Amino acid sequence: MEMVNITIDGKKLQVPKDYTVLQAAREAGVEIPTLCYLKGINEIGACRMCVVEIKGARSLQAACVYPVSEGMEVITNSERVRRARKVNLELILSNHDRNCLTCIRSGNCELQRLAEDLNVKQIRYEGENIRRPLDDFSPSIVRDPNKCVLCKRCINVCRNVQEVGVINANYRGFRTVVSTAFDRSLNDVACTMCGQCIQACPVGALREKDSTDIVWKALADKNKYV
Ligand code: FES
Repeated sequence: MEMVNITIDGKKLQVPKDYTVLQAAREAGVEIPTLCYLKGINEIGACRMCVVEIKGARSLQAACVYPVSEGMEVITNSERVRRARKVNLELILSNHDRNCLTCIRSGNCELQRLAEDLNVKQIRYEGENIRRPLDDFSPSIVRDPNKCVLCKRCINVCRNVQEVGVINANYRGFRTVVSTAFDRSLNDVACTMCGQCIQACPVGALREKDSTDIVWKALADKNKYV
């Protein structure tokens, strides 16, 4: 196997030529935060939480997709890097339903953990918010687009692991939403309810339906007709 010599935060390493910076860092025990990355399933460089400085490159680079090369020098924890990660996270949070108290993933949420790690105490980018209806028509999966961080892990696990492919990114730019074709409910597409999308979701945008959902829905339906 062809190897290259690189330096990460002053540590000299020899790693396979086809590694990314993130792979090399993990192997060296250097921690780089990630959100959209899911090894072997979702390696698309979408969230920019893993940005690092590469000596000689003008802009910061996403470690999860940036390939190593001979002589590369990487800095993973400079002030510039920490500031950029924090801004990126605040931008994600600015259009995220932050009702953590009532979220099933509270305490086990990758976004929450990143906010703690990066010491996010306030969101400086309050702006337009998009609020979309909950999809709770499936008998087993509840989809809340307002908590989605557009990491696309669910899309790739549904398509490439389960080979079902019923969810994808719809619309463009600020209006982008992970949904089904024509924004139908998961109940109205060929979803097999395998739950892999729930496993892959880093936040509470996809979750299992439980008995309380069923009771609340029954009450809401009943009230509609009285
Ligand atoms: Fe690298 Fe999201 S983890 S861009």
